Amino acid sequence: MDIQQAYNLWSAQYDTNKNRTRDLEALALQEITQPIQFKRCLEIGCGTGKNTTWLATRAQQVTAVDFSEQMLAKAKAKVPADHVQFHQADITHPWSFATYAYDLITFSLVLEHIEQLSPIFEKANQALAPNGRIYVGELHPFKQYKGTKARFDSEEGTTELTCFTHHLSDFTNAAKQHGLVVDSLQEFFDEEDKTTIPRILSLVFKKGKLK
Ligand SMILES: C[S@@+](CC[C@H](N)C(=O)[O-])C[C@H]1O[C@@H](n2cnc3c(N)ncnc32)[C@H](O)[C@@H]1O
Repeated sequence: MDIQQAYNLWSAQYDTNKNRTRDLEALALQEITQPIQFKRCLEIGCGTGKNTTWLATRAQQVTAVDFSEQMLAKAKAKVPADHVQFHQADITHPWSFATYAYDLITFSLVLEHIEQLSPIFEKANQALAPNGRIYVGELHPFKQYKGTKARFDSEEGTTELTCFTHHLSDFTNAAKQHGLVVDSLQEFFDEEDKTTIPRILSLVFKKGKLK
């Protein structure tokens, strides 16, 4: 089953399954983006709108994108706001949905499904306002090294999604190729227990100074 089909199937239970990664990433996004001022926000891989609700309270305009029709249907029902526009699109294709210069671009739990990071950072950099920020919240690669993967159970059995392991340096190097530098790096732990492996990696990028 490809990733798009898998999310269409998962959409019915995505919000209600026990999912510590989903829940901790929501907290991470809110903590990290709290001090960032943004009017226009581009949310990449919005899924069922878990974070769209929060972003819509902070931004004057939100463009929310996902390639799963069923995940998007949930998000649209959850966030029926005039200043939020939803688009069904595959983010590995040209970003025709990115019609503004965005102050904040977010990627929550989506880049693990993207094999090549560099073209994504290239597009994000093009869509980013000069003083904008790119937020990335991902299952921590340390968890991936231990075998943690996105999966769910349904009548069709257990579906394990196609995921790619991106090391920390893969993120920073792909961003650097397109003139983006790290503004902050944070790690989030289950029950804030720092003796365990971190569950969520969050990175914020900004445009580097032109030489
Ligand atoms: C784990 S869910 C995360 C959803 C939401 N951001 C959250 O944190 O709950 C990953 C989402 O990325 C979307 N996605 C994966 N690959 C994509 C692609 N190439 N283009 C657009 N969306 C994609 C999936 O459809 C899914 O809704």
